Amino acid sequence: MEIITTTSEMRRLRAALPGSVAFVPTMGFLHEGHLALMREGLRRCDHLVVSIFVNPTQFGPGEDIEKYPRDPEGDAQKCRELGCDFLFTPTVDQIYSPDHSTVISVKGLGNTLCGSSRPGHFDGVTTVVTKFFSILSPDVAVFGQKDYQQLAIVRRMVRDLNLPVEIADIPTVREHDGLAMSSRNRYLDDEQRAQATVISRALLTAHRAYQGESLRKPSALIERARAIIEADSEGRIDYLQLVDPHTMFPVVQAPGEEDGALLATAVFFDGTRLIDNIRLDQPLPKALLGARSVACQS
Ligand code: PAJ
Repeated sequence: MEIITTTSEMRRLRAALPGSVAFVPTMGFLHEGHLALMREGLRRCDHLVVSIFVNPTQFGPGEDIEKYPRDPEGDAQKCRELGCDFLFTPTVDQIYSPDHSTVISVKGLGNTLCGSSRPGHFDGVTTVVTKFFSILSPDVAVFGQKDYQQLAIVRRMVRDLNLPVEIADIPTVREHDGLAMSSRNRYLDDEQRAQATVISRALLTAHRAYQGESLRKPSALIERARAIIEADSEGRIDYLQLVDPHTMFPVVQAPGEEDGALLATAVFFDGTRLIDNIRLDQPLPKALLGARSVACQS
């Protein structure tokens, strides 16, 4: 595996690659979720390029980019072991000129959930992802369902701009107790880590109500989930919403048989903001089966 730090070198090496190329964009501090994306990339293509870039334009003024966890050597080791061909780790000046003035913005889909809590965040994501697509010309790019809104926005952008890349996705990879893996989990102290399982338990409870009791009223489903988070943790709910998985707009009427229903949440544990989601209209994901017994007791 080669580690590439400049855009020109990356372009040159990519152009020389025979066969198909999968791309996995990340901000580093890699965990099993990221590795699962990489395996999916390798399963689909002949070569794999991973980027690690803590993208400044997707962080808001109050969000401390300097504190974002980093582990360049550990990350490189993981990518190497997994069979990655190139690890692209550009510096900020390789990606953004000082007078950078072009923004890719997907309207509508980014107005709710994380988009309303973090204004400008998704413009930063779509802009940097477009730049990487332009540098790397991947055949396939793999994203996680953990960031469901991000995935939906990237898909829409690719469709709207006719970008020649296929977007693939994988289900959320979780700890044994259901907590979605995230680079941010490392900020949690022991007490918060124990409490953070309320998030997946809340989602499971709503899933059980939707599938088992055929509960459809959006406010009732949200209340079931909210009650778990508020009763069993000191987490502060940033948002907890039932949205249409295609538009990301709140579902106000009971979803019909044909409609999708995504329950999405962001919860703060002190300064650490964790996100998670579940499709209520689909079978329980495998990664949550194990955590189900815990939820049933609550
Ligand atoms: P980052 O948070 O590092 O996530 C990189 C990719 O890993 C995203 O597609 C995300 O959905 C996926 N991912 C994270 N945790 C996961 C989990 N537990 N299971 C499955 N997939 C998971 O998302 C970003 O970085 C950035 O916004 C980026 C797309 C790189 C643009 O800067």
